[in-house]
Amino acid sequence: MDKLIIEGGKKLKGDVTVSGSKNASLPIFVATILAPGINQISNVPFLRDINTTIKVLESLGADVKGKGDVVRIDTTNISSHEATYDLVKTMRASVLVLGPLLARFGKARVSLPGGCAIGARPINLHLKGLQALGAEIVLEHGYVEARCKRLKGARINFDVSTVGGTEHLMMAAATAKGDTVLENSAREPEIVDLANFLNFMGAKIEGAGTDTINIHGVSELSAANYEVMPDRIEAGTFMIAAAMTGGDIKIRRMKLEHLDALTFKMQDAGVEITSRDGVVRVKGPKKIGSLNIKTRPYPGFPTDMQAQFMAMMCVADGASVISENIFENRFMHVSELQRFGADITVAGSTATVKGVKKLSGAPVMATDLRASASLILAGLAAEGTTEITRIYHLDRGYEAIEKKLAALGANILRVKE
Ligand code: EPU
Repeated sequence: MDKLIIEGGKKLKGDVTVSGSKNASLPIFVATILAPGINQISNVPFLRDINTTIKVLESLGADVKGKGDVVRIDTTNISSHEATYDLVKTMRASVLVLGPLLARFGKARVSLPGGCAIGARPINLHLKGLQALGAEIVLEHGYVEARCKRLKGARINFDVSTVGGTEHLMMAAATAKGDTVLENSAREPEIVDLANFLNFMGAKIEGAGTDTINIHGVSELSAANYEVMPDRIEAGTFMIAAAMTGGDIKIRRMKLEHLDALTFKMQDAGVEITSRDGVVRVKGPKKIGSLNIKTRPYPGFPTDMQAQFMAMMCVADGASVISENIFENRFMHVSELQRFGADITVAGSTATVKGVKKLSGAPVMATDLRASASLILAGLAAEGTTEITRIYHLDRGYEAIEKKLAALGANILRVKE
């Protein structure tokens, strides 16, 4: 197993390029199941979750080949309709194959994902929506068994804003008979990216990015080529890295408009953020101001940036209150940040962070993907050496992060344990 060793205290300087979005690539890969043919997906990040998605597609019978950041997915010979526990437990987004398999073949058997490090994360709204579209669903032996003739359009109102649920039903409804309306839909940019891809495949989807999505079912889709959007969470993580180290960096290929909630907060905290010709410059202040945040569905403050923002508040001037409203257990990084000397108290879904003058490097353990990123950030800003173990979490979602940070002047090294 690999670990990261960071010698803190270097101000980041220079240019970094953001990779393609993990959370947009995953549903786009899955959507290729909807039609037989050869798709070319470009700007795909090289990540463990992408490999897992490729394994899922291959297990169904798809032929997948990668070259650089371009992945060619041939879905002509898909013959299996089952996603096994082994694959779904490795990456819960694998459950998204259920809807596309049903839509194309009228049957699917997909393992239930079970709990996860950051919360219970049920898929009840995915299943309720598929049932509203006419699927018959039985839960047996830990698997969802689903069958249908052709799915039928329906009006679906989500109880809570769900990214995966919205994506799942958008895919399933694309070839349903008649019209579907998804109300109280999630509005994340990754949903818009998926809708764009589906429309490239021949779907008729309008309103993605708003809370009401209208889908006019078409009789069939065809394979398509598509370039995935940039990863807004990777970009946001670099923004905080620059701010926390008092650095000055330029971030290429990011879409600043996808990160308004974070940008406004960072600007309020004294960080200089400017955008010119598609390049975003982030300059850290001498002392970061303290601020309160509440995670919310997009366009609110993203839960996927909460851990990284908390790392920044650990060295802010004063106290900040961080409320996590999306997942019930997304404070696993707190006890690790405390090992750097951070002053954090948690009560329920709220963490109070009192900024300290300096963090001090420490041996720490990564617990989930974004928690791992927060530990890197703390390590970059801390005095002395930090050693982060269990970084396989990090490899799920950040492409070559240690190489990108090293190119910005960070003293960071990946070594074999
Ligand atoms: N929820 C339900 N029932 C459902 C679906 C969701 O109660 O049927 C609840 C969840 O338990 C959670 C809330 O709704 O409390 C929001 O969950 P959502 O469905 O929006 O999350 P997701 O689709 O499982 C995606 C991202 C996450 C990101 C969340 C929220 C992917 C592959 N994953 O998860 O990304 O945190 O949206 O923005 O897109 C990450 O990249 O680190 C990550 C965890």
